[in-house]
Amino acid sequence: MTKPRLWITRRLSDATLERAARDYDVVINHDDTPGTADQLIAASAEFDAILPCHSEHFSAEVAARLDPRLKIIANHSVGVDHCDLPALKARGITVTNTPDVLSDATAELAMLLMLGAARGAVAGDRIVRSGAWDSWSPAFMVGKQLGGARLGIIGMGRVGRAFAAKARGFEMEIHYFNRSELSPDQAHGAIYHSTVESLLGVADFLSLHCPATPETTDLMNTARFGLLPQGAVVVNTARGALIDEDALMAALDSGQVAAAGLDCFKTEPGGNPAFVGYDTIFMLPHIGSATTKTRDAMGFRALDNLDAFFAGEAPRDAL
Ligand code: DGY
Repeated sequence: MTKPRLWITRRLSDATLERAARDYDVVINHDDTPGTADQLIAASAEFDAILPCHSEHFSAEVAARLDPRLKIIANHSVGVDHCDLPALKARGITVTNTPDVLSDATAELAMLLMLGAARGAVAGDRIVRSGAWDSWSPAFMVGKQLGGARLGIIGMGRVGRAFAAKARGFEMEIHYFNRSELSPDQAHGAIYHSTVESLLGVADFLSLHCPATPETTDLMNTARFGLLPQGAVVVNTARGALIDEDALMAALDSGQVAAAGLDCFKTEPGGNPAFVGYDTIFMLPHIGSATTKTRDAMGFRALDNLDAFFAGEAPRDAL
C-alpha cells in the first residue's frame, strides 16, 4: 500500500523523525527554517499531510490557497494560535495538536521563571559572572519568598494544573481564574475567582496559562497590572500576545510589579529589545516544552494523530 506523503516543516527529535520515516513517505525540512506562506501553499499540492510547529502560520489567506490534496495538519504544539481554525475547517482540513504531553515541562519552566524572577537571577548572575561581587550585606539582593505567598493562575487547564501542583510543593496558597470552576478533585483546594479582576487583587505571584485568542490579547494591560498587590511577580509561559509589553515595563518602572519571568514575547523570535534594560525581567527564548522527553512525546503524539487519521479513525486531538 502506498504510504501517505508527509511534510515535516522543522527538525524534530530523532525518534520522531525515525518513526515518521518508517510509516510515511516523508520529506523533512533539514534546514530547519520556518515554513513561509508560499512554501506551505506549494507543499499542500504535494503532500497529504503537514506536520508543522507553531512557527508555521496557516492564516485565513494561506488556508484559502491550500490545494485540496492536503487533508490534515498535525501540529507539533499544544497552542494553535498560528492556525486559523475556522478557515481550515471550511477547507475540510483536519487540524490536531499535542495536549497533555508538554504540561509538566512547561510547568517546570514556569517554576524556574517564577523563582528566578523572585530572587533576582539576572542581576545575581551578572554580578558574579562579571567579577563585580566584592561585598555582602544582609540587605544585598533581598528577594521575594514563594512559601506562604498567594499564587494567582489564569487558565487552569492541563499546564495551569501541573504548575499548581508544583507550587503546592513550595507551600503557596493557590488561587485561580478559569472559564469554569474546577471540580474539587481537580482543584485540590485552589480558590476559584469568577473574574480576572478578583484574582489579580490577591496575586502576589501571577502566572498565565491560557491560550492566545482575540479575547485574551493584552489580557494584562495597564489597568489590570494596577490591580496586582504592590511588588507582584508576573510569569508568562503561554503566549506573548497575553501581555501589553509597554504596560509591563511601566508597571516595573513604578514598582507595582517587582519582577517578571517571560518565556513568550509579542515578537518571536527576537523578543522585545526594550526588555534588555530590565534586570528585573528573567527571560528565556520560548523553551517551555524543550526537553528531550517532551520533544519525543510531542512528536509521537502528532504521529499518533496522523496514524489514526490515515487509518480512517478520528484523531484523538482533532480540534
Ligand atoms: C506549544 O506547544 O504551544 C509550545 O508553545 C511550543 O510550540
